[in-house]
Amino acid sequence: MSEDVSVVVVGSCMTDLVSQAPRLPKAGETIHGHRFFIGFGGKGANQCIQAARLGAKTAMVCKVGRDVFGNDYIQNFKNNGVSTAYAEQTENAATGAASIIVNDTGENAIVIVAGANMLLGQEELQRALTAIVNAKVLVCQLEINPDTSLQALRMARENHVKTIFNPAPAIVDLCSDFFKASDVFCCNESEAELLTGMSVTSVEDASQVGLELLNKGCGSVIVTLGPQGCVVCQPTNTAPKHIPTTAVTAADTTGAGDSFIGALAFYMAHYPTMPLEEMARRANLVAAMSVQTVGTQTSFPFQKDLPTELF
Ligand SMILES: Nc1ncnc2c1ncn2[C@@H]1O[C@H](COP(=O)(O)OP(=O)(O)O)[C@@H](O)[C@H]1O
Ligand SMILES: *[C@@H]1O[C@H](CO)[C@@H](O)[C@H](O)[C@H]1NC(C)=O
Repeated sequence: MSEDVSVVVVGSCMTDLVSQAPRLPKAGETIHGHRFFIGFGGKGANQCIQAARLGAKTAMVCKVGRDVFGNDYIQNFKNNGVSTAYAEQTENAATGAASIIVNDTGENAIVIVAGANMLLGQEELQRALTAIVNAKVLVCQLEINPDTSLQALRMARENHVKTIFNPAPAIVDLCSDFFKASDVFCCNESEAELLTGMSVTSVEDASQVGLELLNKGCGSVIVTLGPQGCVVCQPTNTAPKHIPTTAVTAADTTGAGDSFIGALAFYMAHYPTMPLEEMARRANLVAAMSVQTVGTQTSFPFQKDLPTELF
């Protein structure tokens, strides 16, 4: 039932088609690779699945194609306990896909076709209205039509649902309304640079940039810093707070930011009185677990894989 959903994500689904080859092909060239695999991705879906794996009752509001990738994606949500009541399929576009070629030194070339993701709009939000307004937390990113993201954030806000906005992939002239509609504005270093024009190479830079973003009207700002954890900026504690994380051996950091945001959504929904800094500390530890194994969603931990102190 939509009434007991705690985390709703309005966002993207992408099928990753990954070919590993000795090198990237040149224009017009055909080369042989040595491995191919299909993975589930898309920032929206990734974040939703991480929240679900920690124990949140989640629903995904998204659009995929009426094709094999779309069918498989819906099954993937079901396998992870995510409600698919608002995961719609369309005849009018293919499921979002990322064709990725990775060479032996780890460089890549990627073509993303957003496809069905761009057909998620106002009508779909209206159909998901009951779930959105009854949720504890709504999460949005920028891999769908930005107008749809902004509308979803506003819908949540008007109904006292907490919002997390992840401006990814970042756009230079992000409409100021996104800041005003975000309870927590969470981005990484490169997104923070793009949004402010300031360079972010240290914890001090991240603190500066966090304050700059906070001034644009969001409730709080979190800037993630890879192995350095994150910086949390809140209007009440004027000094930005660096939240370091534990050192781990990273095997694959793809999707670390999505694991962090999915975890943050889980904590905001299930521990509403917990200080944001403590939520960020715990989300660091969830994301640190995800970087220790390869893959995106395949690397996201379940509640049972994590220390009980995190719950
Ligand atoms: N090498 C790492 N060691 C430990 N934690 C990491 C590492 N890389 C990322 N993380 C965790 O994942 C979060 C997001 O990573 P980051 O690289 O900032 O985002 P993105 O995936 O968007 O590039 C960090 O705040 C941190 O908690
Ligand atoms: C931040 O996220 C973007 C996706 O929006 C990604 O392309 C970029 O590599 C990330 N930057 C860092 C520093 O991790």
